[in-house]
Amino acid sequence: MGYHIRKAAVIGSGTMGGGIAALLAGVGIPTLLLDIVPSKLTSTEETAGLTLEDEEVRNRIVQNGWKAVTRSRPPAILSETSKHFITLGNLEDDFNKLAEVDWIIEVIVENLEIKQGLFERIEGVRNEQCIVSSNTSGLPIKAIAEGRSEAFQQHFLGTHFFNPPRWLKLLEIIPHEKTLPEVMDLVISFGEEVLGKGVVICKDTPNFIANRYLSITNSYRICVRSWIQHRRSGCHYRRINRSPQDCDVPSIRFDRHRCFHSC
Ligand SMILES: NC(=O)c1ccc[n+]([C@@H]2O[C@H](COP(=O)([O-])OP(=O)(O)OC[C@H]3O[C@@H](n4cnc5c(N)ncnc54)[C@H](O)[C@@H]3O)[C@@H](O)[C@H]2O)c1
Repeated sequence: MGYHIRKAAVIGSGTMGGGIAALLAGVGIPTLLLDIVPSKLTSTEETAGLTLEDEEVRNRIVQNGWKAVTRSRPPAILSETSKHFITLGNLEDDFNKLAEVDWIIEVIVENLEIKQGLFERIEGVRNEQCIVSSNTSGLPIKAIAEGRSEAFQQHFLGTHFFNPPRWLKLLEIIPHEKTLPEVMDLVISFGEEVLGKGVVICKDTPNFIANRYLSITNSYRICVRSWIQHRRSGCHYRRINRSPQDCDVPSIRFDRHRCFHSC
């Protein structure tokens, strides 16, 4: 089967989704950018007499997301012309438009259940050639695809862009055991040749490569730096089980429940 990417959709117009949509628009790919419909009116909308049924309200989240993209620094958008490649919409009224695209990139909150629920809906509308990927930072690709059909799973993979997507070169591509080789080939060549990324193929292990490496090196760096500082000041560490908020002296936070402080 001949796969191609001529039209794309990005779901989630937050920090990463907006940036990825802008990146695609910058290389001339017509891109549908969708986000959720708000559940409440803002006071401004109430004063203006709008209701939750008005398009302006229903597209408020995606409109705000895109506005933030247009103001971001360094610029997320290549040019004024590239803005014309973006179509905004919401996940209720415009969901069926996903049937027209060749690549759907999910860039929503990092929550397995919410992502799985979205992919269940996507499965109902995607065309059979459509490639679907998740920008998850570290959820297992296999787990996200669980429960989906064989055909969906064959066209599913992880595409992990880094922030800001237009400026950071790295793109991690994460297949799972059912991803078709030809789907991988297309996404790799599109990533390298069209988007100009440095593609790294990762195993479907928690946090993939870059984040795993960064979390280990950051923890190590913090430990060593703090140890040196405290040795210099003649202090030694005592490990305690208190929340960071309870500490009345400068502390180094390692996780939600424990901190280290000097004694
Ligand atoms: N921020 C980063 O540096 C970064 C880098 C790489 C990957 N990621 C990954 O990208 C994804 C998005 O991260 P982000 O930083 O853009 O987050 P964000 O908070 O900026 O955006 C989250 C988006 O999800 C949408 N959303 C919220 N609830 C939803 C729901 N129930 N259904 C559908 N959409 C919903 C929001 O409206 C928003 O558009 C996450 O999976 C994250 O792990 C983030």
